[in-house]
Amino acid sequence: IEKIQAQIPMDQWPTEWFAVTNAIHRHGPLLTWLDTTPAEAVFEHPTAHDPDAILQAVTDAGLRGRGGAGFPTATKWRFCRENADPERFLICNADEGEPGTFKDRVLLTRYPEHLFAGMILAARAIGADKAILYLRYEYQYLLPQLEAARERIASAQATVPQAERVTLEIALGAGAYVCGEESALIESLEGKPGRPRVRPPYPVTQGYLGHPTVVNNVETLVAVAAIVGNGAAWWRALGTPDSSGPKLFCVSGDVAQPGLYEFPYGVALGDVVTAARPLGTRYAVQVSGPSGTLLPATPEQLARPLAFEALPCNGTVMVFDVRRDPVAIVHHFARFFAHESCGFCTPCRVGTQLIAKTFEKIAAGYATRFDLERLAPALEAMRLASNCGFGLSAGNPVRDLIAHFRQQLEAQLQPHDFIPAFSLDAELA
Ligand code: NAI
Repeated sequence: IEKIQAQIPMDQWPTEWFAVTNAIHRHGPLLTWLDTTPAEAVFEHPTAHDPDAILQAVTDAGLRGRGGAGFPTATKWRFCRENADPERFLICNADEGEPGTFKDRVLLTRYPEHLFAGMILAARAIGADKAILYLRYEYQYLLPQLEAARERIASAQATVPQAERVTLEIALGAGAYVCGEESALIESLEGKPGRPRVRPPYPVTQGYLGHPTVVNNVETLVAVAAIVGNGAAWWRALGTPDSSGPKLFCVSGDVAQPGLYEFPYGVALGDVVTAARPLGTRYAVQVSGPSGTLLPATPEQLARPLAFEALPCNGTVMVFDVRRDPVAIVHHFARFFAHESCGFCTPCRVGTQLIAKTFEKIAAGYATRFDLERLAPALEAMRLASNCGFGLSAGNPVRDLIAHFRQQLEAQLQPHDFIPAFSLDAELA
């Protein structure tokens, strides 16, 4: 793919090509520690053998989930280990499927041993005997090296008492985006179709095979190893009070240097984009992938800090040059969501199809404002009544297109106005 890419100007690349890189362009304390410290060294730390101490370190560090939602990791762990059921599980969610997202792939490729060490520490903290890595189907080419890393880390446990040992397993997904949703992932692990469960009960209460289960993202578990290795204060010193620590950002799209960048949480969106050298001066930024937020690159937006309490970001930043059509970008996302919806709940199943069909109509040149108006109640139903995060956020690109790129959208609509007293703003308010 890289050879084909080299022959075609970057601004003509389809968005599917954006994330085809594992390059690291900016190291910070986390990546530097990963580069310089063997994973086994973590087990030499006294904290590593005391479940209470591991939990305390993660609590003191203020670590929040790196998958996107930012739930406090120690709180999740505490819910799980306080459950009376002695059979508990730790699952690493490596089903990274959000378009433009590849930070977990870089970690799985370069630092798999640190990840397995983090999984063992997390499993010890919650009192689980087994930790399972659920790997995205498209990442199956990584299996041989992951198996080798698993063996090495498993043998590093040979010196610890039997009671402390954690069995590490790797399971392969089947290629569904929705299995990145934790309860669909658990269903899939159990051999069922990957459909999100109704939550609550959350997995910490009733997860894999009905037992208390913690599901953590790859980056979160790598962070656990780093926190145990360096201490909570090291982590706390970076980021903001509510979003502590360093964060990995994968920047892709119309930039000269697509790849991975480490910044502390609280960094301005503009600083992350600038580091990757955007190709134009006027562009749009997709923060957190298609299920996140599409923003114009105005000075106000670029000044916004990336943090859970400000502009939340799971680490995905896609840059679109002004020459790209924002309507076509949203059309692309709409096709993706319609294809990936599991079809379980009506708002998502119908809503994603309705959005995709509306954008097909726009692209064909015969949509009117009436078609857009029809979307408003569907978007609202998806936002309010979908069963999982997929449906709740699948309408976000349309919402942002209307809010920030209305002119470009309306320019592609037919002038006929079937509704005399039309107010899209009132519908969406
Ligand atoms: P969520 O906020 O419902 O849950 C986040 C985590 O906290 C889950 O592990 C959940 O079990 C736990 N949790 C929440 N409330 C709890 C409670 N009361 N008791 C116990 N545990 C509780 O978010 P969700 O739906 O799991 O994930 C949505 C996020 O995923 C979005 O922010 C989105 O950005 C991100 N995402 C990431 C992708 C990726 O490839 N990394 C792909 C698509 C979405």
